[in-house]
Amino acid sequence: MPAAVAARPLYAASGSPALVRELTSNDRDRLLQHFLALAEDDRLLRFGQIVPDHVIDNYVRMIDFVRDTVFGVFNNQLQIVGVGHLAYLPAEDKERTAEFGVSVLENARGKGIGSKLFERAAIRSRNTHVSTLYMHCLSRNATMMHIARKAGMKIEYTHGEADAYLTLPPADQSSILSEMLQEQAAVFDYALKRQARQASKIIESFLPPGIAA
Ligand SMILES: CC(C)(COP(=O)(O)OP(=O)(O)OC[C@H]1O[C@@H](n2cnc3c(N)ncnc32)[C@H](O)[C@@H]1OP(=O)(O)O)[C@@H](O)C(=O)NCCC(=O)NCCS
Repeated sequence: MPAAVAARPLYAASGSPALVRELTSNDRDRLLQHFLALAEDDRLLRFGQIVPDHVIDNYVRMIDFVRDTVFGVFNNQLQIVGVGHLAYLPAEDKERTAEFGVSVLENARGKGIGSKLFERAAIRSRNTHVSTLYMHCLSRNATMMHIARKAGMKIEYTHGEADAYLTLPPADQSSILSEMLQEQAAVFDYALKRQARQASKIIESFLPPGIAA
């Protein structure tokens, strides 16, 4: 695995934690809110076309959480600010490939969330015997191209589009342990945020109207 992918710190460059948690079908509603909050151009960059709300609704309902893996980063209000979807492609000659798509809400960008989601997808891919991680982007997507190059991906350009490939080494003890620790940290962080939110709701219920906790 390229050094840039393996050695990034657990905390984003801004100092705020970007902890990546694996999502389940219980998170579908919040996933929908995430995608619906993407502006037209972001939808174009993420899905390759400007998708209307009902197509997004359909996409979220159809996500197969058993076959694929979806990762999320939550803010303190428990909104999903970043989503990474790792879809496993049919295996060819025992070579396993997975396709990665990512989106981060505009107000949460530039804090390392997209990169952390990519790194987590790369490590999950290794740990599930994927040898090639693939991404399809528009070549004008400078931020994504930057993330891909930083990770050491091989990029092929055709007609304004780009296919990026990362060859992954097999899993080892360190990749398995690293993913386990990242998931535990993210689950713990989520539980703390949920508790804090519940506590603030209880306090708010005791305050006179118009005063926030
Ligand atoms: C692409 C996207 C996921 C990035 O998310 P993010 O959380 O802002 O990404 P990060 O903060 O981890 O990294 C951004 C990196 O790109 C760099 N960057 C930002 N704007 C850039 C630009 N115009 N040109 C080159 N690099 C740029 C940043 O400096 C940073 O680099 P660094 O980590 O070396 O400092 C987000 O912009 C997004 O959701 N875009 C719309 C959907 C999309 O394009 N999805 C990808 C399709 S697969």
